[in-house]
Amino acid sequence: MAYDFISAADAAEMIKNGDTLGLSGFTAPGNPKKLTEALAEKAAREHEQGREFKVNIFTGASTNDHVDGILARNNAINMRAPYQNTPDLRKRINAHDTHYFDRHLSEMAQETRYGFYGDTDYAIIEAADIDENGEILLGCGVGNIPTYAPRAKKIFIELNEALPKSLMGMHDIYVPADPPYRREIPIFSPKDRAGRPTLKVDPSKIVGIIKTNSLDGVKAFTKPDEVSEHIGANVVNFLISEYRKGRIPKEFLPLQSGVGNVANAVLHYLGVDKELPNFMMYTEVVQDSVLELLRLGKCTFASTCSMTFSDEVEKQLFADMNYFHDKILLRPAEISNNPEIIRRLGVIAMNTALEADIFGNVNSTHVLGTRMMNGIGGSGDFTRNAYLSIFSCPSVTKEGLISNIVPHVSHADHSEHSVDVIITDQGIADLRAKDPVQRAETIIENCAHPMYRELLWDYLKLGKGGQTPVSLNAAFAFHKAFADHGDMRKTDFSQFA
Ligand code: COA
Repeated sequence: MAYDFISAADAAEMIKNGDTLGLSGFTAPGNPKKLTEALAEKAAREHEQGREFKVNIFTGASTNDHVDGILARNNAINMRAPYQNTPDLRKRINAHDTHYFDRHLSEMAQETRYGFYGDTDYAIIEAADIDENGEILLGCGVGNIPTYAPRAKKIFIELNEALPKSLMGMHDIYVPADPPYRREIPIFSPKDRAGRPTLKVDPSKIVGIIKTNSLDGVKAFTKPDEVSEHIGANVVNFLISEYRKGRIPKEFLPLQSGVGNVANAVLHYLGVDKELPNFMMYTEVVQDSVLELLRLGKCTFASTCSMTFSDEVEKQLFADMNYFHDKILLRPAEISNNPEIIRRLGVIAMNTALEADIFGNVNSTHVLGTRMMNGIGGSGDFTRNAYLSIFSCPSVTKEGLISNIVPHVSHADHSEHSVDVIITDQGIADLRAKDPVQRAETIIENCAHPMYRELLWDYLKLGKGGQTPVSLNAAFAFHKAFADHGDMRKTDFSQFA
């Protein structure tokens, strides 16, 4: 079938107020790059004319400025899921201009198929190539498009000429059957393939093809600061000690690593360590440090949903596809983050917290309990199902005004029942086989910053018994002190004694 090429502006004209769009990609890679910009311009024009114009945007995870950034600045997003990390959209969410629901990334696709989120009007798919039968070679991030595309009434393709055709063979597109017909997902090692190298869509649904030509625009990492280096070193020391004790099998286990500078630093340290054996990754994003580890042979294989490489590193990948082609496999989010597979493979999960409390509960999403930062992302998928769940964060933030170890988390994403280890720049708290009071003692002693330790001991003494001696009066005293005085160190527990 021959397709029509159209401009992004003409495509945007077809999209109506209230439409629901399902986008390809996961983090910046694989996202559309032009049509959503044209849509933002259309929204601005409509708003100038006094007309309502907002769309619902469902993605794989976070996007980039071409999508969430520009659409949020133009107040063009009504409903958004399952994850974001853009400052402009964050403002809209916290002002309730955009209705954001924050879902575990593994669940978004199946819940879309279950009909929980209504119809999909348009799928917008970034492609490296497409043939006349609707076989699409996807770009560097997959996300939930294998579910959004077949459900969509109409499809736009963004054909990105910056993507090499040699990506063919790097994707494994598999959509499980829904209950009550679901069977085991046949993935027993990070390398196993269960699906197809391309995404097949109905070619008659394709309204038009928009040409683009740009890399994914991921920013390069800054050099890790001293705190990230300490955290990275502590994570590596913990894994080495577990390995020496024989609590990690001699072949080692696949690693999952979260996003950001700390996660990048941790992987770097794992790479330079001589004692740890070579390892594979079963994860949702691979960042810059992983390409280097693959080149060195320290990481032998990476299964992921997205190659979230900075443009510089993406160019290195494209220049050396012969080497990397059979070392990276791109999967849909519901497979990269699938609880069944994570549990089966024994993935070691390493994620980052905003704050953790002394009993081992973790807040990954809400600053001071109220303001959405990014979302839970895949951290819940991995934490709950991992062989070992590690959370790391700096012991303090904002030069010590905030302690990231608090009496009680102001929002709970991961409970004490799932979190095995907490690691800060100060040290390691291994929470396994400890009751809540023993956990509190370990976390205060090993992970809290010295400037907050006494305060946390004072809090623990306030509890009036029970298995978990929470003080109902003082649980949020740190947060209250920050709200009142801009400094958690001003907490005064004497009033609660
Ligand atoms: N209270 C208030 N603010 C806090 C805070 C706390 N306890 N801890 C951190 N912050 C602030 C920081 O000061 C920083 O603010 P700034 O942007 O004004 O400098 C901001 O929050 C981000 O903190 P930072 O230490 O730079 O975080 P990070 O880049 O390591 O990210 C998370 C940490 C938790 C936000 C991030 O990992 C996340 O979104 N996690 C959820 C999703 C996830 O885990 N996905 C993993 C699967 S891939």
